[in-house]
Amino acid sequence: MGEADKLGARIEWVLETHVHADHLTAAPWLKAKTGAKVGIGEHVTQVQSIFRPVFDLCEVSLKGAEFDRLFADGGHFAIGNLDVEVLHTPGHTPACVSYRIGDAVFVGDTMFMPDYGCARADFPGGSARALYRSIRRLLALPRDTRMFLCHDYKAPGRDYFAWETTVAEQRAGNVQVHDGVSEDAFVAAREKRDAQLAAPELLLPSIQVNIRAGRFPRAELNGARFLRIPLKLAPELDKVV
Ligand SMILES: [Fe+2]
Repeated sequence: MGEADKLGARIEWVLETHVHADHLTAAPWLKAKTGAKVGIGEHVTQVQSIFRPVFDLCEVSLKGAEFDRLFADGGHFAIGNLDVEVLHTPGHTPACVSYRIGDAVFVGDTMFMPDYGCARADFPGGSARALYRSIRRLLALPRDTRMFLCHDYKAPGRDYFAWETTVAEQRAGNVQVHDGVSEDAFVAAREKRDAQLAAPELLLPSIQVNIRAGRFPRAELNGARFLRIPLKLAPELDKVV
């Protein structure tokens, strides 16, 4: 696997931070290529329970059985000699987790670069209040903790991508949630902003695939696989089509 081979490293885990709503996970492909196990936070069961009825996906387990390992808050596991601590950091979604390894923490979409802020909290099961508390928990880590992010959208005045910052930088300068921003102020601002955001372009494919750990639906009788698009029809149309 490219970089891993060059380093003489073996890929043991694909660690999901959450069920992504804007892109499809490549976990099954990576697993097939490397034999890696796929892990995610145990509250993925909640995400499955929310979305299985939306797409009427009766094959979804509701128990997270599609994943190799479900991580509980405060749980530990090993990657080679490294100890990994799991932190449940809900808010963006109810199942978000962060992974802390020594002085590094991988926070998924819980926080973005200081000049951009943090993730939206308006997906089903999301909560701006929970997000604030998760962020404060992350910002209580030692100040020199290196923080690695899932997404970067650049920011006004910055035309290069970034993916790493520190707890100290976030506390001092995160535009939405630096030290001194109260929970109520954050929640009000986050909810106002989220109300103006469009749904992610790949929302429908992403959710129905990612709650199955990235597996696509089984083939239908014609041999093709299909994703579902829920339709919401006006009542008068509902009767005639
Ligand atoms: Fe996300």
